[in-house]
Amino acid sequence: MFSALTPAVKDPILSQTLACLQDTRSRKLDLGVGVYRNEQGVTPVLQSVKMAESRLLDEQDSKAYVGMAGCERFNRVMMDLLLGDNSSLSRAVGVQTPGASGALRLLAEVIKIANPTAKIWTSDLSYANHAPIMKAAGLDVAYYPYFDPQTKMVNEVAMLATLSSLGKNDVVLLHGCCHNPTGADLSYSSWQTITDMANVQGFLPFIDMAYQGFGDGMEEDAAGFRYLAERVPDYLVASSCSKNFGLYRERTGLAVIASDTLQQSECIKSRIMECARSSYTMPPDHGAAIVRIILEDKVLKEYWLSEVTQMRQRIQQVRTSLVSALQHRTDSHQFDFIAQHKGMFSVIGATSDQVARLRESCGVYLVDGGRMNLAGLKESDVPFLADALSEVMVP
Ligand code: LMR
Repeated sequence: MFSALTPAVKDPILSQTLACLQDTRSRKLDLGVGVYRNEQGVTPVLQSVKMAESRLLDEQDSKAYVGMAGCERFNRVMMDLLLGDNSSLSRAVGVQTPGASGALRLLAEVIKIANPTAKIWTSDLSYANHAPIMKAAGLDVAYYPYFDPQTKMVNEVAMLATLSSLGKNDVVLLHGCCHNPTGADLSYSSWQTITDMANVQGFLPFIDMAYQGFGDGMEEDAAGFRYLAERVPDYLVASSCSKNFGLYRERTGLAVIASDTLQQSECIKSRIMECARSSYTMPPDHGAAIVRIILEDKVLKEYWLSEVTQMRQRIQQVRTSLVSALQHRTDSHQFDFIAQHKGMFSVIGATSDQVARLRESCGVYLVDGGRMNLAGLKESDVPFLADALSEVMVP
């Protein structure tokens, strides 16, 4: 049966963690996978999560099945977090999923069922797992221009020019905030233009919201998406609790579907649950139960928000420190863009050769393509990293 099978290609992100773990050098930095670490280099369980878990331990009285859409109370509070008082909430429905990857896959599958010839457009660059997930669901994948390697910001002119040629057969995958991998986010005015285009041309916006709260704030990070959500007839969202709740391994995510009527959204939801049933039946409960407890409790929610603020501010601080260390070493403003980027990541413009040299000569692990996880960097490691970057990247 399996004699002709060849091994899978290594995952470009997850393989870096393993490679760094196996590196026996005492001085090394794992800036690959998107995981937050504190100043002690630890990915902590948030205190709000610990409190919710201890409440759950006391209160939970059954482990019976929940349902294919997971916990509807979780779905509700997560949609509130995402949408605030957005008017589209009245026609939106949610399905709890195993992480945002699970949401991306289920939403891709329902697009394929609804329109087998649909084409999905993702940003160039984009999250390394976007195209594989979409292709695994049978969708055609195309790319719109996004990252400008010169400015390290979004090339909005080129992006909008490509989107202006799309129509009803197209789905446009957008990053809600904290673009992965680049760190370069859309401006509010681009969200407005994309909204107008979706309405006139009829393409479907599909938003990946994996880092809400890690850019400028919980509300601020959703502002562009909420503008769009209020105005377009249909949209899809894949949302994650991995980063802002620190629930990575609990695989806690949400798929949101909003169509022009609630009845139509429910119809799409039923097909998503059918996809879930033929795959994993229903999502794991533990992470969603924690999130529900936190978001339903005003005091706990405030505490959680303060913990997200702490994480966000630490990332911003480390970005600023790295920029100033690099200014000092290179006597230039070549790396100033790192402080303008949002969220965990920046694409720093390192070539494949430079990424390999950083790894092999300096023990600094980035994802190929030059993505650096700033959220995994300790303030005390900034000088070491700045030395490595200036040695390898500055002529
Ligand atoms: C990342 O981009 O590093 C994370 O989202 C982890 C993953 O699943 O790829």
